[in-house]
Order: sequence, then C-alpha cells, then structure tokens
Amino acid sequence: MGSPYDVLGLDADADEDAVVRAYRKRVKEVHPDHGGSVAAFKRVRRAYEHLTAGRDPAAFEAGEASAGSDRPESTDGRTGSAEEEVSSAGDTGDGDGELGPTVEYLDYAAVESYGWNITDDDLFEKAETADLGVDTHGILVVEPRETLLEAAERYGFSWPYACRGGACANCAVAVVEGDLEMPVSTVLDDDLTDRGVRLSCIGEPVTDDLKIVFNIEHLPGLAELRLPAEQFGSARADD
Ligand code: FES
Repeated sequence: MGSPYDVLGLDADADEDAVVRAYRKRVKEVHPDHGGSVAAFKRVRRAYEHLTAGRDPAAFEAGEASAGSDRPESTDGRTGSAEEEVSSAGDTGDGDGELGPTVEYLDYAAVESYGWNITDDDLFEKAETADLGVDTHGILVVEPRETLLEAAERYGFSWPYACRGGACANCAVAVVEGDLEMPVSTVLDDDLTDRGVRLSCIGEPVTDDLKIVFNIEHLPGLAELRLPAEQFGSARADD
C-alpha cells in the first residue's frame, strides 16, 4: 500500500506543483507500453487525484482497498460512491485488464504563448519541460466507445465544442501522432484532414497512443467553420 506521496515518489511535504510534476513523470514510467502495468497506471492516477482533491493522505489506503475488484457496481455500470467516481476518472475498469488508448494532450494556447509550432518535431518534449498545468498538458485514457471529447470531459476538462455532431469545427484537434477515426463525413475538407485535423466530439482513437493539440479552433481554415456557442445551450467555445 503506502501513501499517495509514496506512489508518486514524493516527500510528504511536497507542494502541488511537485505533485503535478511527479504525476506527469510517473504516469509515463508505469504505462504498460513502457514496462509498467494497468494496475500501476491506475494507482498513480488515483494517488494524483487523491492529493489534488485535497483528501487526507492517510485515507488513501482505505480508498485503495475499496478500488479492488469487489467494489460494488451500480446499475448504470459505474462503481462506488460519487467521490470514488471522481477519483477513478481515469479508470478503464477495475483490475489489471487492458488499458484503453492513451492520449497525450496539449493546449494550443500554450503552443502560441511559448512561440512553438504544431509542426515542431519536439513539440511535446518542449511541453514536458515547460512545467504546464494538467489542464494544459498531460495524459488521459479513452474508454471503449468513448469519443476524445467525452474522455476529456470525464477527466473534468472543458475543451471547446458547440454542436457535438460533426457539423462545425469548434471541437477540432490536431493529431500529431496516432489517429482518431470519425464515423461520419464532416465539415473538414481534405486539406484539413491531411494536416491531421479531427473533430474530438465524434473522433474515437484507432491507435493505442496519440498526441493531440486541442483548442485549435482559431487556426486558419477552421475559424470560418466555427459556430457561435450561443446557438447551443450547453456549448463551450471561446468566443
Ligand atoms: S462540436 Fe461541432 S463538430 Fe464537434
């Protein structure tokens, strides 16, 4: 067992920035594709969420026990209490089963503010060293039959969108590595799709690992395809 600080390899007096940095490092180290395991990956995620939610570190072990395979499942397929549901936002199910596609994401706002370019070969390496917050740069796991936008929202992120049906470009992301498949034809022309632009609201990963830049809706070729957010009651778009 151990404390969430132990799981992240930190001293118990580590501050929030240190927790974020340690999480970003550990989640890569324990990824199944890098010699880790699904269980270890989820445990690191739970430790990070436990600390960033401000929960008592001493209560982590009890939460770990309840995260085992005997955790009750509700009728809608979700498990545990509301707090546990939040804390397990990155889970793709209990146990040591297969991990869903892993997406490393980066906010285009950071690309712009640092003077980087989406086409930079070392874009994500630069993001790694820039000490960005997890809402700007990090890793998420997409569950089966889940779109990228739905996965991001499950993690609590507010990525842009409007129609949620492939009819605008508000939710566009640039796929730098891997691919997202879109089940219906969209407003994106061949030039945009050839440049790796995909719609996160209908896009599902078809590769195990992806790197994407989100929040690109103001890029040339996309801005004119955007819909005003006020057309959609629950839309989130940066107008
Ligand atoms: S939100 Fe309109 S296409 Fe995704």
